[in-house]
Amino acid sequence: MNKLIVAIDGFAATGKSTQAKRLAKALNYTYVDTGAMYRAVTLFALEQPPEGNLDFDLLNRSLDQIQIHFEEGAEEQQTFLNGLNVSQAIRDPKINQHVSKVAAQKEVRSFLSKTQKLLGANKGVVMDGRDIGTAVFPQAECKFFLTATPEVRAMRRYQEQVQAGVDESYEAVLASVKARDEQDTTRAYAPLKKAEDALEIEVSNLTIEEVFDLLYAQVSKQLN
Ligand code: CDP
Repeated sequence: MNKLIVAIDGFAATGKSTQAKRLAKALNYTYVDTGAMYRAVTLFALEQPPEGNLDFDLLNRSLDQIQIHFEEGAEEQQTFLNGLNVSQAIRDPKINQHVSKVAAQKEVRSFLSKTQKLLGANKGVVMDGRDIGTAVFPQAECKFFLTATPEVRAMRRYQEQVQAGVDESYEAVLASVKARDEQDTTRAYAPLKKAEDALEIEVSNLTIEEVFDLLYAQVSKQLN
């Protein structure tokens, strides 16, 4: 059967991972959360002595000590860093604060995109991130670019965090989302931008179902 690479890129908290997971399930494809990989590298960097201090030279020299893998959990896919389940730790506001600086490092990007290319080598993947349709898989058959206003995105992320027991105000979440957007769109290597051939979807006024239907219809066209 014809298997595709589906790339879902876009701004922070646009629901990329929710859509990517559903799509992967519906198509029986593998889901790859590339943001979780950048988050895990950030956690690794913050844990290097002196703890909490980002030393990019040290990080770039230590990349070969980082192993990231995913396992299916009872409900959600789990992210492992060097054998430890870090799924919860990588969603901490402290990681949000630093991840875009780590993701701007050329060495970090080339290290992770190598792994991402391997994960998609046999196709049949739905990968979400910032540069999947532009840099990792420019040849992907299906590319989507999700956008929404910063306020809508911050409210979604704030509600998710409340559910997960994270204590951060809406205003702080909004500031963090905007700061990441700025860093992700202006970095030198593989910045966040829409691939020319990506379908852009503004999700601010759409439900999860409505967005999913648009994605699924587009993928179905490619499959037929
Ligand atoms: O879930 P959310 O949209 O907040 O972010 P994420 O997908 O978990 O990604 C976290 C951060 O990792 C982003 O803000 C980017 O700085 C970086 N990232 C990237 O540079 N390239 C990717 N392919 C995925 C994530």
